[in-house]
Amino acid sequence: MVDYDMLIKQVESLSEESSEYIPVMANTAALLFSSLPDINWAGFYLVSDGSLLLGPFQGKVACVRIKKGRGVCGTAWEKDSVMFVDDVHSFPDHIACDSASRSEIVIPVHNGMGEVAAVLDIDSPVLSRFDREDKEGLVRLAESLEKCINWKVDVVRHS
Ligand code: SME
Repeated sequence: MVDYDMLIKQVESLSEESSEYIPVMANTAALLFSSLPDINWAGFYLVSDGSLLLGPFQGKVACVRIKKGRGVCGTAWEKDSVMFVDDVHSFPDHIACDSASRSEIVIPVHNGMGEVAAVLDIDSPVLSRFDREDKEGLVRLAESLEKCINWKVDVVRHS
């Protein structure tokens, strides 16, 4: 079982030195990739210039831009809701960056103004890898990230 309380504490302490989104997201991606069993990708897509732009991640190379409403990530952004996909092959518009991926969870991350500024995408080679506990823990982790990041650092345009 994954100790999400511990992971959240680690995210918070890793962001003490710098609250800029690049180091915070990079360390969060590394932490999740090395802590969650049975995953093959963990990282962020950033809302930038009207689409999602590949951000800090761990795993195989991935597509660089995703349009609003496209794929699981673009849908999570458009709907501003957590996407929980037990079988990516049954999700008609899934974007297969890694053909090994079988299930995934995508969580919107909001800036200080309540807008979606990024999505956290975690993929697994195992069908139905993510359960309610993962969803609840990862939503809490994303909420903690929202508070840790200094969204005023405008390296990408959050629009
Ligand atoms: N799974 C995503 C695409 C990104 S890669 O999997 C890293 C999607 O369908 O939105």
